[in-house]
Amino acid sequence: MKPKILITRQLPHEAIELAQSRADAELPEGNQPLPRADLLKRLRDKAGLVCLLTDGIDEELLRAAPGLRVVSNVAVGVNNIDVAACSRRGVMVTNTPGILTETTADFTWALLLAAARRVVEGDQYVRAGKFTEWRLMLLLGDDVHGKVLGILGFGRIGQAVARRAIGFGMRLLYHSRHRVDETIERDLRATYVDKATLLRESDFLTIHTPFVSETRHLIGVPELRAMKPTAFLINAARGPIVHEEALVQALQEGWISGAGLDVYEEEPKVHPGLLEAPNAVLAPHIGSASRETRTRMALMAVENCLAVLEGKTPPNPVNPEVLKNREA
Ligand code: NAP
Ligand code: GLV
Repeated sequence: MKPKILITRQLPHEAIELAQSRADAELPEGNQPLPRADLLKRLRDKAGLVCLLTDGIDEELLRAAPGLRVVSNVAVGVNNIDVAACSRRGVMVTNTPGILTETTADFTWALLLAAARRVVEGDQYVRAGKFTEWRLMLLLGDDVHGKVLGILGFGRIGQAVARRAIGFGMRLLYHSRHRVDETIERDLRATYVDKATLLRESDFLTIHTPFVSETRHLIGVPELRAMKPTAFLINAARGPIVHEEALVQALQEGWISGAGLDVYEEEPKVHPGLLEAPNAVLAPHIGSASRETRTRMALMAVENCLAVLEGKTPPNPVNPEVLKNREA
């Protein structure tokens, strides 16, 4: 008998077909988030769950699904999942690292360039019919080439962002939990600095840490105060890493020059102060949203789920200790 899995939202058809070929896959109709009660009910008899980063996977949900063996997130970030609770119950958690790295790095640059060069304001200006003559001092922005790029969190995406900075002739500083190998630093022309130096010297500061308890409000009032008044903050990681209220104040009062954001502290809610800030470029969490990458992420999530249910090691385990305990 095929294992029963629940897929919480529509996925690209290739991923659905893969799931249906090897599992008894249930998929809600439409493409709305499942009400919590419905999710709990549907999970009761499932062995696998393929979910999105908007699905909160917690103790209550795990209790409601005693036969669950795998939670497969269609995302690299797993802050929506209580991984420790899953591990305690022997539930494997998987994610989709690597395949979205380059796409997310591209988008980080899109935010950075759009914020520095006022692309969104320019677009609005043209659409409003205001472009009636070429003017020398119209919508002046900031140069990107030759400036200092600071990267906070120097993992897969942070390093992919760094690679792109070489073409812009930027000086590259980074701060991360650990310093990377000298060869990587040399190849990327990256200098490790402490967080205070990173904040003080960066013209563009971009965040690429995961969201965990230690990174909540990693950027708040003191950090924003320490940045240059001409600097830009880019966040395509997770909203709560930045204290949003503080960021609004920083943008309003000119502690920093601007921001490019893909993620928000309580998304999909966006702080009204950000909506009103002309110096913020706002995107709806689309860092990895290219057709190719989102399809690959969905396929990878289904592969991870099926592998666990077929007794294999999944390609991307987040809590591999569960496998060891199963083998023991
Ligand atoms: P990764 O390879 O694990 O890199 C994360 C880096 O952050 C690692 O170098 C890690 O250090 C470092 N780090 C962890 N805690 C830190 C701290 N307290 N201070 C400084 N650095 C810290 O992850 P990734 O694949 O690059 O993804 C990063 C995050 O991007 C994901 O977790 C996700 O939330 C977000 N993301 C967003 C989008 C989007 O659509 N906007 C798309 C993809 C990913 P260690 O090496 O010591 O662990
Ligand atoms: C997207 O935000 C991800 O974590 O993959």
